[in-house]
Amino acid sequence: MTTPFAPTCVLVTGGAGFIGVNFVRWLLNTDVRVQIVNLDLLTYAGNLESLSDVLGNRRHFFVRGDVRDFATMRAVLAGEATETPHGGARARRTPAPDAVVHMAAESHVDRSIMGPAVFVDTNVSGTLTVLEACRGELARAPRDFRLLHVSTDEVYGSLGETDPAFTETTPLAPNSPYAASKAAADLLVRSYVATFDLPAIVTRCSNNYGPYQFPEKLIPLMVTRALDDQPLPVYGDGLNVRDWLHVEDHARAIWEVLTRGRLGEVYNVGGQAERANIAIVRTLLKTLGKPESLICYVTDRAGHDRRYAMNSDKLRRELGWEPRHACEAGLEATVRWYLEHRAWWERVLSEAYRASNALYL
Ligand SMILES: NC(=O)c1ccc[n+]([C@@H]2O[C@H](COP(=O)([O-])OP(=O)(O)OC[C@H]3O[C@@H](n4cnc5c(N)ncnc54)[C@H](O)[C@@H]3O)[C@@H](O)[C@H]2O)c1
Repeated sequence: MTTPFAPTCVLVTGGAGFIGVNFVRWLLNTDVRVQIVNLDLLTYAGNLESLSDVLGNRRHFFVRGDVRDFATMRAVLAGEATETPHGGARARRTPAPDAVVHMAAESHVDRSIMGPAVFVDTNVSGTLTVLEACRGELARAPRDFRLLHVSTDEVYGSLGETDPAFTETTPLAPNSPYAASKAAADLLVRSYVATFDLPAIVTRCSNNYGPYQFPEKLIPLMVTRALDDQPLPVYGDGLNVRDWLHVEDHARAIWEVLTRGRLGEVYNVGGQAERANIAIVRTLLKTLGKPESLICYVTDRAGHDRRYAMNSDKLRRELGWEPRHACEAGLEATVRWYLEHRAWWERVLSEAYRASNALYL
């Protein structure tokens, strides 16, 4: 059992993305002492509007920046950066973090098939830059410090129908360019622990669902299309299986591992909620009161992994973490959120959003 680590300032990279905004909001509400420096490039997937209720929080500092840019990362880690001005507020100097939750990434498998290069650039080179900046900062100003790298079950590859779930010792066998880039990043983190004694930990999580997810991912894609009575494209036979976890349960797992996990370790995070894609789509349609005739099977994704399943015994045993959201109830609440936030998802799907986001790049 390691001594609990109590960070005072957490740098969250990618904190304007789906998991990022949920983690930031959850942490601000859960630990009232902690400050957050939120660094995000605001690609198409990053959305400051999703943070509108926390942007005015004096414990939250937003910096628009690129994890691939060493100078930016160095300045942010040293507490020498300035907030990106927003909403007319005066930009403040950002505090020096004593923890990093690294989740900035290109995250959509289909996009990685269409254009792998940016995935290697962001996920591999970006992670290398984060690691180098942390190493440099700790040499300059040694302190109690932790880096948590947020990874995915996809690094383990695909399971057959009856195979046991992935454990932390399952060999890495990524099949998509996205998964390969995440696996490469995981291994870079591992090498910095072994070679430079960097105080880092990796979490690997299964599929997340919840509010503020960009409507290209399965659940928000299906919900938003069904609401407009558009066909729901389901890959192959629809029997690919994923393990689903509510994003708040992931946020809590990240915090447990960051504050109480063992350095140098990998922790799997799963919901013990294996569902076939088609079963998820049917549940969503039922919740929305929409007909199954909207389902339209399309040519399977190239290299489509058949099944993921996570064994999270290590996280449960060592840190007592358990998911709190039951899958079907969580899905229902998520559907309600999209119903109640039509303006949010209509905007992120609009030309105007694309144009305003493009300004940042
Ligand atoms: N969504 C899931 O189900 C899931 C499951 C397991 C692990 N993960 C991992 O969790 C992390 C977050 O996933 P997500 O679903 O929130 O992704 P997302 O695509 O919604 O958000 C990614 C965020 O990273 C930002 N970003 C991209 N490139 C950047 C760069 N160069 N510099 C700074 N910021 C940059 C984007 O602007 C965006 O805000 C990723 O590392 C992903 O691999 C996701």
